[in-house]
Amino acid sequence: MRHEVDFLVVGSGIAGLSFALKVAEHGRVCILTKGDAAEGSTRYAQGGIAAVMYDSDSFEQHIEDTLVAGDGICDREVVEMTIREAPDRIRELVRYGVDFDLDGKGGRFDLHREGGHSEFRILHHKDNTGEEIERALLEAARRHPNITIKERQFAIDIITQHHLGQRVTKHTPGIECYGVYALDCDTNRIDTYLAKVTLLATGGMGNVYTTTTTPIISTGDGVAMVHRARGVLSDLEFTQFHPTSLYNPAEKPAFLITEAMRGAGAVLKDREGREFMQKYDPRLSLAPRDIVARAIDNEMKLSGMDYLYLDARGIGKKHLIEGFPTIYAKCLSIGIDITRDMIPIRPAMHYQCGGIKVDRHGESSIRHLYAAGECSCTGLHGGNRLASNSLLEAVVYAHNAAQSAIAEAARAVHGNLRGQIPDWNAEGMVLNEEMILITQTKSELQEIMWNYVGIVRSDLRLQRAFDRLNLIFRETEDLYNRSVLTEPLCELRNLIACAYLIIKMARARRENVGLHYSLDLLNQDKD
Ligand code: FAD
Ligand code: SIN
Repeated sequence: MRHEVDFLVVGSGIAGLSFALKVAEHGRVCILTKGDAAEGSTRYAQGGIAAVMYDSDSFEQHIEDTLVAGDGICDREVVEMTIREAPDRIRELVRYGVDFDLDGKGGRFDLHREGGHSEFRILHHKDNTGEEIERALLEAARRHPNITIKERQFAIDIITQHHLGQRVTKHTPGIECYGVYALDCDTNRIDTYLAKVTLLATGGMGNVYTTTTTPIISTGDGVAMVHRARGVLSDLEFTQFHPTSLYNPAEKPAFLITEAMRGAGAVLKDREGREFMQKYDPRLSLAPRDIVARAIDNEMKLSGMDYLYLDARGIGKKHLIEGFPTIYAKCLSIGIDITRDMIPIRPAMHYQCGGIKVDRHGESSIRHLYAAGECSCTGLHGGNRLASNSLLEAVVYAHNAAQSAIAEAARAVHGNLRGQIPDWNAEGMVLNEEMILITQTKSELQEIMWNYVGIVRSDLRLQRAFDRLNLIFRETEDLYNRSVLTEPLCELRNLIACAYLIIKMARARRENVGLHYSLDLLNQDKD
């Protein structure tokens, strides 16, 4: 079946919904989302969204904190633009109905602090900010007459000249996007969606690793699609591990213990109950994430423990129960009373700093294709994202991309080509009934990445990962080429593509910077 709209959005998290609400004033919008519309990293965001709202803080300080966390390789212009635009985007979220907590005194926003921030500047809704943002945006999108949300529609590939029979390489000038092919997960039919402008807002790729805080939908689909379409990707070696996920091995994804808890006074401790961060950084438990995660990793290796502790008892019972109700209830459900017990924690893959390279308007290297949110790479994060700058980046870039996309859609684009775009050809494919081929390969991939391409890397580990990945890649391509497509198979293929890109970029990065840390580059001077 063929569908034609003005604006096609893939993803219904903060980035996709924010963009959709803006462009919907100028044309018909279709949002494709592979699961339930509310499912994605956005709804699990705990800490909040960073912005300078009052004179007690300054843009300069937030800019400086972002640059420092990014370890000197952020794009300064992008950082300045994003941070100066933040208050406008926050006011817009409030207009959409997001209920940020107020401080109970002068009706000002209650602000939290997290690692790497020199000030209290995190707007939040208790400890479940993302759920509140997703609720408000989704309700607004569902009310809008120009927006159609289609759930359980899995975007497989973006449509380019390649599908018109032309040879497309990464050197081909003017690669264009006409829309996407998407699998209807209920009927197994593959539909053709054509649009004047397409936005990828497909989120992260946490499931490349065994232990991740990200939901199961985070399989790097947008990045993999752009890779196959020969678009430009960047910075994928900078995989961010959150220092404090709850140690509860059977649980997937790993439950997050927000950094805001450290901002409120919780401290990291070893199994003897001793603080250890003084050995690593003067900012102690509130150092930027890359430093804290590496310190925990090192302490775990030294002690042979699978976890360490976060001690939140000093925060006080009332503040813990009222300020962190989700974490309090979660821990209690597995027998940990955080007002009395230390919380067992370990690092988990949390966020991908790199992705689809976009300019300041969210435009990718492929014409008529935009990207926003975690699947994109804007230059804001450099080598390591500052806490709570991700939701911010998503709303700022969704806004910028919308402005540009509205202007672009007003110029009729590729109308004469539409008739030539073929539908998906699934002839000769057989239904692969051996799910084990997919599930086993996925766990192998995740183990390889966790063990060889994790917080601490080396040339040999990266080489091993690459060799093992090659085998998995060949087997999966073979399966893909003869199988009727299913969501798990497509996701596995995308995860493999993302793993390949992470390893390739990690091998190319010959200095330890931000989240990329290799034992073989330890004694090298950083310029
Ligand atoms: P997501 O919200 O992940 O949405 C992706 C969407 O794309 C989903 O709707 C999914 O179904 C859809 N999709 C993906 N692939 C396909 C496909 N092939 N076809 C169709 N649809 C597809 N950041 C902060 O700034 N502050 C925080 O406090 C914070 N806390 C976090 C806590 C947790 C536990 C996690 C995991 C992340 C946190 N982050 C936080 C990071 C932040 O939440 C994410 O980076 C951000 O929400 C990503 O938004 P997004 O719109 O890009 O993607
Ligand atoms: C957290 O609440 O610790 C997560 C914040 C983030 O990922 O930005």
